[in-house]
Amino acid sequence: MKRILSLTTVLALCGSLLYAQNTVDLNVQLDRSTGKISPHMWGVFFEDINLGADGGIYAELVKNRSFEFNHPMMGWKRLGDVPEGAFLFVNDSRRKGNPRSLRIHKPVDFKAGLQNEGFRGMGVRKGEGYEFSLLYRQASPGMRIKVELLNEQEAVIGTTVLPLSEGKNWQTGTVSFTSSETSAKGKLNIWIEGAGDVEVDMLSLFPKETWKNRPKGLRKDMVQILADMEPDFIRFPGGCIVEGRDLANRFQWKKTVGPIEERELIINRWNTEFNHRLTPDYFQTFGLGFYEYFLLAEDLGAEAVPILNCGMACQFNTAEVVPLDELDEYIQDALDLIEFANGSTNTQWGKLRAEMGHPEPFNLKMLGVGNENWGPQYIERLAIFQKVLQEKHPEIQIIASSGTDPQGERFEFLDEKLREMKIDIIDEHYYRPPAWFLSGADRYDDYDRNGPKIFAGEYASHTTRPQGPGRSTWEAALSEAAFLTGLERNGDVVTMASYAPLFGHVDGWQWSPDLIWVDNLNVYGTPSYHVQKLYSLNKGTDIVPVKLGGQNVIGQDSIYASAVYDAHAKELIVKLVNYNNRSVDVSLQLDTKKKIKGDATKITLANADLNVANSIEEPLMIQPKTEQVRYKGKVLKDTFSPYSFTVIKVPIQ
Ligand code: AHR
Repeated sequence: MKRILSLTTVLALCGSLLYAQNTVDLNVQLDRSTGKISPHMWGVFFEDINLGADGGIYAELVKNRSFEFNHPMMGWKRLGDVPEGAFLFVNDSRRKGNPRSLRIHKPVDFKAGLQNEGFRGMGVRKGEGYEFSLLYRQASPGMRIKVELLNEQEAVIGTTVLPLSEGKNWQTGTVSFTSSETSAKGKLNIWIEGAGDVEVDMLSLFPKETWKNRPKGLRKDMVQILADMEPDFIRFPGGCIVEGRDLANRFQWKKTVGPIEERELIINRWNTEFNHRLTPDYFQTFGLGFYEYFLLAEDLGAEAVPILNCGMACQFNTAEVVPLDELDEYIQDALDLIEFANGSTNTQWGKLRAEMGHPEPFNLKMLGVGNENWGPQYIERLAIFQKVLQEKHPEIQIIASSGTDPQGERFEFLDEKLREMKIDIIDEHYYRPPAWFLSGADRYDDYDRNGPKIFAGEYASHTTRPQGPGRSTWEAALSEAAFLTGLERNGDVVTMASYAPLFGHVDGWQWSPDLIWVDNLNVYGTPSYHVQKLYSLNKGTDIVPVKLGGQNVIGQDSIYASAVYDAHAKELIVKLVNYNNRSVDVSLQLDTKKKIKGDATKITLANADLNVANSIEEPLMIQPKTEQVRYKGKVLKDTFSPYSFTVIKVPIQ
């Protein structure tokens, strides 16, 4: 990608240095829109990394509930004086997706139970209801389950008893109780009382209060913080977990739908990816599967953007590929997914969607083929997908990967090929230092307007400053804010953008920084979250040029700016980054025949210290400050704080 600054830009940059102490004069050309902002511009990228799904947004509190982790006792501890042979793991291959269960043999009553440690403990709240459930079968009556919720000190903070019925078939048992205390690191004891024989499986504990109070649903606070961003789309399920470390470990959506107890879990590929952050107990149980992802997208009012494996495993790991003449299964997965999302209830997969509770189609419009794949082997596989998808589903837009980097040989090769193939949307990824983001605010200014659209599918500014786990600094966020002015200015060609990764659990992360951090009870947005949210909530409909001496504002005087007009709200929205360690006076001259209707709203994120970050203890160190401002006439004169990102919303008649 060429990165040559024009002579006029260089002159503007030099000139602006001389001009540094004075007012910066910007022209906002409200009547000269250069294009429409994409309706799905700002979204979220969801991956089960950093305990994002299991141990995170999926509200299940029991780890290894089905004993299907590599070691059936991972996460569990025996309780009581269990004699040899009393606990037996049965592996019954006839039980689809979930062959293991625990058989308990108690010819006489003795103390026997299990303790589950949760995902770095269990987060429970005083006064809230919890639902324990299990699958079980016992041929003759006599046994019951006693559950005890414990706090960190192992004191009982909630308990109840569930009598078990007799029967040859597996049945579900459910019981509720209330927690008398809040604990971030709770545990669960399950006592098997009475004498007899029983088999148990899917031992589960959920809060009753979930997002939309769906049983066995999602963590309310974690979905709420996403909803607050009003994302236009949600990309799922990743990320590298789409590819898998090898093909056997790839994400297969069909194994994530249907009855939860039949969804076959796999090792989460992030569990041993990084030696410094080993997470051997990280599995994907798929309680949050493709149906739930579609539902989440619908709840958020966001487009569902699934990404599927293209017949290649992660090229940083095994780099396995499926032979071209065996690609059919992968392509069929894509066709069936479209049927699952959009097909009539008379079709095989549409029927399953209806049985799961959603007869109406999900209205899927876009589909990603491959994540961070590269090389000719990707292109040849993608071409086969493209041919079939275009023939059978011309209504679906295809998203294709331009690899791991935003420049360099791999990128150049893919970018050229994808353009030749006339792929609908190219997915670009960039994890780069702040300086890259600052100097790249003009990245898309010269992109071909007639070629594929761009999805900035994964981006994050990574500071090199020493920092503790999970710190995502104001420096990173402000450099992103500067870069995003370039995305907004080019919103006709860059039609989607999402920060990555989305969630990080403070006790279970593998990758940092992340947009949102959680522990078992709390959630907070990083400065980057607030930046992305300000863009998303102030998206507008039409791109409005902002000029400094006739040039785009891409860092002259360390100022970055973009603007949009919102035809619904009838507002001009200007975004301005002051990347100086001093206040800067800026005058925004509105070039327009339209009239200004009243006071403007000014929203500022600012901190003179670039090293500041939010945290569980201080979640709002960086947060937006809103004020009403009365500007005189059509020249908005204002002073912008050191290291600040400001959104100004001006009502227009
Ligand atoms: O966001 C974390 C990882 O970064 C994603 O899984 C992958 O696509 C990229 O390399």
